[in-house]
Amino acid sequence: MRTIALLGATGSIGRQALELIGAHPELELVAAASGSQPIDGLAPLTQVGGDLTELLDRAEPDVVLNAVVGFAGLPATLWALERGVTLALANKESLVAAGELALAAQRRGGGLLLPVDSEHSAAFQCLEGRSPEHVDSLVLTGSGGPFRGRSRDELEDVAPEEALAHPTWSMGPKITVDSATLANKGLEVIEAHFLFGLPYERIEVVLQPTSVVHALVRFRDGASLAHLGYPDMRVPIAFALTYPERAATPVPALDFSQGLVLEFEPPDLDTFPLLALARRAGERGGTYPCAFNAANEVAVAAFLEGRLPFLGIASTVEETLAEVDGAAARDLHELVEADREARRLAERASVA
Ligand SMILES: NC(=O)c1ccc[n+]([C@@H]2O[C@H](COP(=O)([O-])OP(=O)(O)OC[C@H]3O[C@@H](n4cnc5c(N)ncnc54)[C@H](OP(=O)(O)O)[C@@H]3O)[C@@H](O)[C@H]2O)c1
Repeated sequence: MRTIALLGATGSIGRQALELIGAHPELELVAAASGSQPIDGLAPLTQVGGDLTELLDRAEPDVVLNAVVGFAGLPATLWALERGVTLALANKESLVAAGELALAAQRRGGGLLLPVDSEHSAAFQCLEGRSPEHVDSLVLTGSGGPFRGRSRDELEDVAPEEALAHPTWSMGPKITVDSATLANKGLEVIEAHFLFGLPYERIEVVLQPTSVVHALVRFRDGASLAHLGYPDMRVPIAFALTYPERAATPVPALDFSQGLVLEFEPPDLDTFPLLALARRAGERGGTYPCAFNAANEVAVAAFLEGRLPFLGIASTVEETLAEVDGAAARDLHELVEADREARRLAERASVA
């Protein structure tokens, strides 16, 4: 029996996790949290908003599935890593914003950090049991989102509804917009850097429009291993919740009887500047990734509320990154300050 605390239970990842937990008697939901929606009775312990570490203190779970969206997920990530409680991490924003602090907490706690992001779960599986010196580089794949192939001019007037129509994945609104701008792939590059300890120049992004190939690892002998499957988050969620058992899921294995064509293309970094901005923020280190994430959260919210044009998301992030000092945070307090300052600058940039 493995006890689970599910944070973000009402979201896209949260609902799929509930389905999987319900189907696996060896998984027991002991606590659930949401941001604002009522979840009475969903689990023995529930909490709506507030400090989620209070819920975790009471629940003492074996596994924390952090499926909260945004920087708000950070205290729960640190709670699990510090205590050596297995962390199934969907909330990529916390690792991007607080990578160094999170890894230090994990070193102290000594527990497992299992990625739920599909690309990172795929990479984790390709890398498992390999010596770091055998690995040449990591390739993260992306669908390219709903606007792949468009020019900048064609993106000037896109409405939130268009950005929310993702071609291959059904997800919450924030990550869906991030997929349309390629900010999501940028966050994932930083996430991969912290998860796998690879320098940025050895993490590449390639587009694979049908999202069948989730990641590839290149090895020094010229071989590459890839992870393939239909795009369905229940696979990486189940992998993380039941690791290392690889429990069954309702997702079918790939069917080749009708043929299967896989096409790859490089991302268009000029039309979608957030990918390169994220990479640059990662390379600069310090609190630049935190500022990238904060500014992006502010800009995406403004876009979804109709206050900012689509192309304004990238310009808001770019302006914010040009203004922050990016100095490394020595503790959570300094990181929260860096996040707050970047949000303040981004709010100003997004109305300018
Ligand atoms: N969806 C995917 O397929 C997918 C794939 C890879 C990675 N991820 C990552 O997984 C995370 C969740 O994504 P999602 O698509 O599931 O998002 P979502 O559908 O928008 O759900 C977000 C969840 O977070 C909760 N929440 C928001 N603010 C909170 C707070 N302050 N305290 C506690 N709970 C809070 C929401 O509760 P309310 O409903 O009450 O607001 C909701 O349950 C994101 O970091 C995303 O990048 C998602």
